[in-house]
Amino acid sequence: MNHNPSTGLLPVDESDLAARLSKLSLEQKAALLTGADAWNVPGCPDIGLAPMLLSDGPNGVRGERFNDERDPALLLPNLAALAATWDPQLLFRAGELLGEEARRKRVHVLLGPTVNIQRALTGGRNFENLSEDPLLTARLGRAYVEGVQSRGVAACPKHFVANDSETERFSYDVRVDERTLREIYLAPFEEATVVGGAATVMAAYNAVRGQTMTENAPLVEGVLKGEWAFDGVVLSDWMATRSTEGAALGGLDLAMPGPVGPYGAALVAAVCEGRVPEKTVDDKVLRLLRLAARVGALDTGTAQAHGPVPPPPRAAAAQIRDLTTRTFVLLRNEGLLPLRADTLRNVALIGPAAVSPAYQGGGSASLTAARLSEPRHALRAALPAQAELTVHRGVRSRANLDPLPAAHTRNPDSGEPGARLDYLDADGQVLLTENRHSLSLSWIGFPGVPVLPPQTTALRLRTTITAPRRGPHTFSVTGTGGLVLDIGGTQSLRADSAAREGVEDVMRRTPDHRVTVELDGSDTDITLTLNVALVDSPVQFIEMTLGHDDSPSTEDEEFSTAVEAARHADAVILMLGTSDDIESESFDRPTVRLPGRQDELAAAVLKANPDTVVVVNASSPVVMDWAEQASSLLWTFFGGQEYGAALADVLLGAAEPTGRLTASFPRKAGDAPVPDAVPVDGILTYDEGLLIGHRAYDALNTDPLFPFGHGTGYTPWTYLSAALPPDARSALTEGDDSSVRVRLRNTGDRPGHEVVQIYAEGAEGDGQAPPRQLVGFAVAQAAPGRTAEVDVLLTPRSLSRYTRGGWEFPDTPRRLHIGHSSRDLALTVDL
Ligand code: BGC
Repeated sequence: MNHNPSTGLLPVDESDLAARLSKLSLEQKAALLTGADAWNVPGCPDIGLAPMLLSDGPNGVRGERFNDERDPALLLPNLAALAATWDPQLLFRAGELLGEEARRKRVHVLLGPTVNIQRALTGGRNFENLSEDPLLTARLGRAYVEGVQSRGVAACPKHFVANDSETERFSYDVRVDERTLREIYLAPFEEATVVGGAATVMAAYNAVRGQTMTENAPLVEGVLKGEWAFDGVVLSDWMATRSTEGAALGGLDLAMPGPVGPYGAALVAAVCEGRVPEKTVDDKVLRLLRLAARVGALDTGTAQAHGPVPPPPRAAAAQIRDLTTRTFVLLRNEGLLPLRADTLRNVALIGPAAVSPAYQGGGSASLTAARLSEPRHALRAALPAQAELTVHRGVRSRANLDPLPAAHTRNPDSGEPGARLDYLDADGQVLLTENRHSLSLSWIGFPGVPVLPPQTTALRLRTTITAPRRGPHTFSVTGTGGLVLDIGGTQSLRADSAAREGVEDVMRRTPDHRVTVELDGSDTDITLTLNVALVDSPVQFIEMTLGHDDSPSTEDEEFSTAVEAARHADAVILMLGTSDDIESESFDRPTVRLPGRQDELAAAVLKANPDTVVVVNASSPVVMDWAEQASSLLWTFFGGQEYGAALADVLLGAAEPTGRLTASFPRKAGDAPVPDAVPVDGILTYDEGLLIGHRAYDALNTDPLFPFGHGTGYTPWTYLSAALPPDARSALTEGDDSSVRVRLRNTGDRPGHEVVQIYAEGAEGDGQAPPRQLVGFAVAQAAPGRTAEVDVLLTPRSLSRYTRGGWEFPDTPRRLHIGHSSRDLALTVDL
């Protein structure tokens, strides 16, 4: 059994599970293998099995309600940001925190970590994937799994396997050679299950070598359950199960969501007709019972005890804030950072991300945070009183207007901030009323799980905008169906938006419809009605948003005001970024540049004031022609709920930005080894083989804008020496771990962190190997002027290659390069 002894999961008594299984009829067994609804696995009181709740994942625990502001959660920085810490201990702690959050929300299985690879530059879910490197992804993914599971909650590494891009995501068929599949794409799953002891794995939407992953017997039965002896549950990605027999024989245990799906009665029939052996079903149910035993869902009555869930703990905020500072990567710094707060008089905070920052990427990973620390407020609070802070948007980065903030509104009934939401039937009768705090609402339904209360044909949102600024206000609407907006009884807007056709479209935003009105400063009643359009699709998605903007200026005017402000400020912080319009599940990035006129703004602000600190609020690399003109450039990802506070800590020097890049930044899109991933006739060929990410930059001798592993922090380091124990080679050859002892000095004037990285040259005679590949890393810390000594772990696996059906440790000398990034390697040792 691959049960990790350090896990907090409960021990399993296999004979007890077998006894419970023997009490079930075939029908009862089959019924357990499909979700009870969108997020629950059915229970079975006859054998003491409680329902189990599954939740996304991976940078928070959303819970059962889809993006509902009444059920908020802790929001951590996105997974690629967490990976930038290069610190398995921090990933473990993040996992622990999420495990505790899962317990609070009565979740048994957290659907994460996402351990696919940042393969293509445009990959829509790169923000959710840890890195472009298999070793880094594997080590960090496993630490996350161990952290979550230490709290008694099952983790679910996803999506097994080669689900590395979003274009045609339900159907593309990956063609990849065996060595590449093993060394790059399977490696993180292997580490998460075999070493990390993950209790579940999610099978992906795509196919590999002609077989969809929910039916892929060679990889699921053969590799995962066979070679790796995985004894947990393989569950399907949502709506990914395509057949009864194929899935049952291909190794899929649990089809999600339910209650409708290809298992159930069809699986019973398949067994009765001899197409699926009953022992195959038994094995699936045993796996489910094993999961239940591990997460405490056996003999617990109803595990989903009802009643209000306590709010997220406030203490977690401090931990998340600290963690967030550790994710920021300082790409350039010519001495501007940290800012010397006592010298500042006039600080200009400029850019679209200063006004509406992105705290998270889009898709199933997104959730409603219980609190959001906004950069402008956090900076104001952190700056000394004599420093004036002005905020200028400059340009817009999002296509649609932002939702009207609840703080500027009042529910006309309750008087609370927000709106009254009525569910209406065809006669206009109110079926249900809710108090909502958000003016952007969405609902998702699956077969057998209605998207809205029965009979609902329209949704009506009523709010009062309180003391609006006198002058022009632009209101916008989006929604799935016919929209009617009424403003103060005098102005109205009618618009029709298409319903979303199925899952593929769910996360795409449709362009908003706008109307501009003059408001005289008094409270104004607004009603938005959505006549719901449903489509003939297994997945129903309904959305309605009331957007708003009251800027009295045009974008050209805002642009000039921002540049003028930069010219006269003694410190400029320019915040640029992407958002969930660009970085999301369900589509690949439409652009690898900053959206809107942000590049133009960057160039103009840098010209007006060269002493500008540029902060980028985006996850996946963007092309930045102006980057080398910026004296300070800080990459901050999607910072989660403590983004603002963490940013203020770093900008003003209370914390060091200790992150290092986990993806290479190209100078231009064409420099990326895999610029995009568009299937040809449904086939996606990974013909770059082992040469992805930094390995390809080395192999092709391409100069990246910023290399993998790069990040300067606030202290310089000098690498002094590296040494291997005399028996290193023989230990590794015999299958034992070894290490490299690295000494380095903090030559700066403040305590600091450094990520020591080790890259191995390809073994002699291995024509396919990249020139260098990452084989180890460790975080060092030292006080100013002091020397740190770290032992960087080397495992036989990290230096082995997959060949002739197995792993082989090459019996030839290897040169190891040690240093600060994939392109700054000061030391070498020979193994
Ligand atoms: C995503 C999964 C997610 C699931 C449930 C799917 O669309 O690919 O990552 O866990 O939905 O929300």
